[in-house]
Amino acid sequence: MSAALKKIDGKHLEEVRRHYEDYPYPMRNPEDDRTQLAMPLMETLCAMNHFCFEGRLNIRKGFRALVAGGGTGDAAIGLAEQLRDYPQCEVVYVDMSQASMKIAKRRAEIRQLNNIRWVHDSLLNIPNLGLGEFDYVNCSGVLHHLASPTEGLAALRSALKEDGAMGIMLYAQYGRMAVYMMQEALRMLNRGEPNLQTQVDTAKAVLNNLPPSNWLLNSSKIIIDEARGGVIALYDLLLHAQDRAYTIPQLYEFMETAGLNILHFFSDDFKLGNDQYNPAYYIGDKDLLARVRTWPVREQQTLIELLHGKFEKHTFYAAPTPRKPADYKDLEMIPCMGQIAGKMLDELPGMIDKTEGVVDVTSPVYQSRAIFLKTPHAAAIMRLMDDRRCLREIFEKIIADAGGSNVPTIEDLHMEFENFYQPMHKFHWMYMRAKNSEPTLNLHMMQDRVPLK
Ligand SMILES: C[S@@+](CC[C@H](N)C(=O)[O-])C[C@H]1O[C@@H](n2cnc3c(N)ncnc32)[C@H](O)[C@@H]1O
Repeated sequence: MSAALKKIDGKHLEEVRRHYEDYPYPMRNPEDDRTQLAMPLMETLCAMNHFCFEGRLNIRKGFRALVAGGGTGDAAIGLAEQLRDYPQCEVVYVDMSQASMKIAKRRAEIRQLNNIRWVHDSLLNIPNLGLGEFDYVNCSGVLHHLASPTEGLAALRSALKEDGAMGIMLYAQYGRMAVYMMQEALRMLNRGEPNLQTQVDTAKAVLNNLPPSNWLLNSSKIIIDEARGGVIALYDLLLHAQDRAYTIPQLYEFMETAGLNILHFFSDDFKLGNDQYNPAYYIGDKDLLARVRTWPVREQQTLIELLHGKFEKHTFYAAPTPRKPADYKDLEMIPCMGQIAGKMLDELPGMIDKTEGVVDVTSPVYQSRAIFLKTPHAAAIMRLMDDRRCLREIFEKIIADAGGSNVPTIEDLHMEFENFYQPMHKFHWMYMRAKNSEPTLNLHMMQDRVPLK
């Protein structure tokens, strides 16, 4: 760690760096990479393409991704794994913790990935590192640990192409109120204590004796599990030296400092999926809902965060220019499965054949549940979804094969498609992409080709 690096971020950098040297977060055992791919949903190229590039991302032309504050490697490994067969593409990992980088590097080594460039530095130094410009910048769980998040975001923005996009995770304020109360209490108890292990012991002693009224005990399962989890998770949650959170309006203001538009929020509740940001989930009264829907999206989201009450983080895509998601109404677009949907499409048409009325699909991995009405051609449309045919080609084939008197129209088939696409898209099981963009491999397929077993 150079003296210049220490100076650049004021007094907090050294404390934060030391934290991540002693307790690299999140805890990852590189050996696990032999059997599983811990891929963040935000880093799946199918999601990124759909929400950030209108479905038209063409990685064959080259794609450069920067992972800033890459930690123990989930995002860098996930991106590099997807870009493995494209020598024109590159992932650059930056982190100031040597210990974290060592774990991430070992994971890449086990996977025999050689498309990641490793940089040990502060992300605040990015403008001076000559790394070039990027199509995508990931920064998850990092900016809220800087003394000046605005400076950090500006450094990242300076490396982002105008037509590129960012994937960001920042803490949310209301859902973490209990965390901040506990952090303050532990700060009082650990005043002047430099030893990280002693700080942890004090925290454990306090956590073991909380009264039932304590807010942390009444928090979400995720927070309680983290607090009761290993030392690494506990330190990151409750003993962090530098940690701030944002409400939705603060988040928009923060993004505006770097000229960034928010494109899409990811849900952190797999049972809700995209409904987490849908006013209809929160407001039952029809007239009230109609009124809220006339508000700017940003205000609707502000209201939603207040009504939900427990957003713990904001995970979202942002870009220098406003973008629309890939359009399922466009007949020239290809319907494709999300990488997290795994082999779902192999089984769905057969399941629909056997079902009368309501089709009820539960993801074995995430326990999310999509429900839609069976329609005459839903199974046939899915059987023709081969990741190459666009909607028009699928519909024309069904019409050509139909014969007899009940020949559907393109419009009928499009409505049937929308009927199952919407509930499945809600959970990131289905997206749209343009013909010029590359199909993606699902998580199983990517893991199956890891060379070392
Ligand atoms: C909570 S971890 C998140 C890791 C990773 N992004 C993830 O989502 O799994 C925060 C990481 O940011 C790194 N970090 C914090 N401040 C940094 C800075 N100024 N420059 C580079 N890395 C930084 C830490 O070393 C740590 O690895």
